[in-house]
Amino acid sequence: MQALDRYTYPHRLLHWLVAGVVLLSLASGLTLGFLGYDGTVDLIGKTLTNVLYGGHKTLGVLMLLLMTLRVITRLAFVVPDHVPPLNTFERVVSTSVHHLLYIALIVMPLIGWAATASGGFPVEFVLWQLPGFIGKDEQLSELLFILHEWLGWIILALVVLHVSGAIFHWKIKRDNVMKRMSLFD
Ligand code: HEM
Ligand code: HEM
Repeated sequence: MQALDRYTYPHRLLHWLVAGVVLLSLASGLTLGFLGYDGTVDLIGKTLTNVLYGGHKTLGVLMLLLMTLRVITRLAFVVPDHVPPLNTFERVVSTSVHHLLYIALIVMPLIGWAATASGGFPVEFVLWQLPGFIGKDEQLSELLFILHEWLGWIILALVVLHVSGAIFHWKIKRDNVMKRMSLFD
């Protein structure tokens, strides 16, 4: 029997969907964070600003759904062995970054959700308004939005580290690592 040399298809598909959603949520979130509500309205008008807020929240909730599926596919399917094996440094750094990304990408939408709801704002997903699960508390909301911002920078740093590692394996070391996650042959 041939040894498994890549993650299963559902897990690979989820990897690339999550990658796209992370980049879009960071880009939309940072735009809103830098400009604030009034600055965004001045730049693109009220309607588009509301679309941007709604879009960011929708992406965040989608992330929660995708990460839930991803944890399931990670635990349910066999993880392929590295051939050739990674050295200790590569193994420790890559595993730590992967685990931190998993944790951050589950905690981040939960904080965004709680910050939004406790600020008295709607938690939107596409055209629906989801329950807030938490009462209005402006002090708590302010604190959670600060955490939301810090975690945003941490996620950005983790993604930069992760993508640099992937490109190093793909273009310089030219080993099997990229193939393990690739959707193509
Ligand atoms: C931008 C957001 C991204 C996130 C959040 C992310 C997250 C992850 C995580 C958590 C893993 C561990 C495998 C698992 O258990 O699921 C992984 C593996 C992998 N990722 Fe990403 N990834 C991103 C983007 C990318 C990009 C842009 C590339 C390629 C340039 C890439 C290439 C890979 C490869 C090759 C693996 C397999 C590593 C291995 O098996 O050791 N990723 N990714
Ligand atoms: C992985 C998912 C998410 C990522 C990566 C993300 C990222 C970010 C980032 C980087 C910011 C800018 C913070 C700042 O500079 O102040 C931001 C702002 C914001 N996020 Fe998220 N977010 C996510 C999920 C969510 C969710 C689920 C919600 C609500 C349902 C949400 C609501 C908001 C709101 C309302 C702002 C604007 C805050 C302001 O006006 O200062 N986010 N997000």
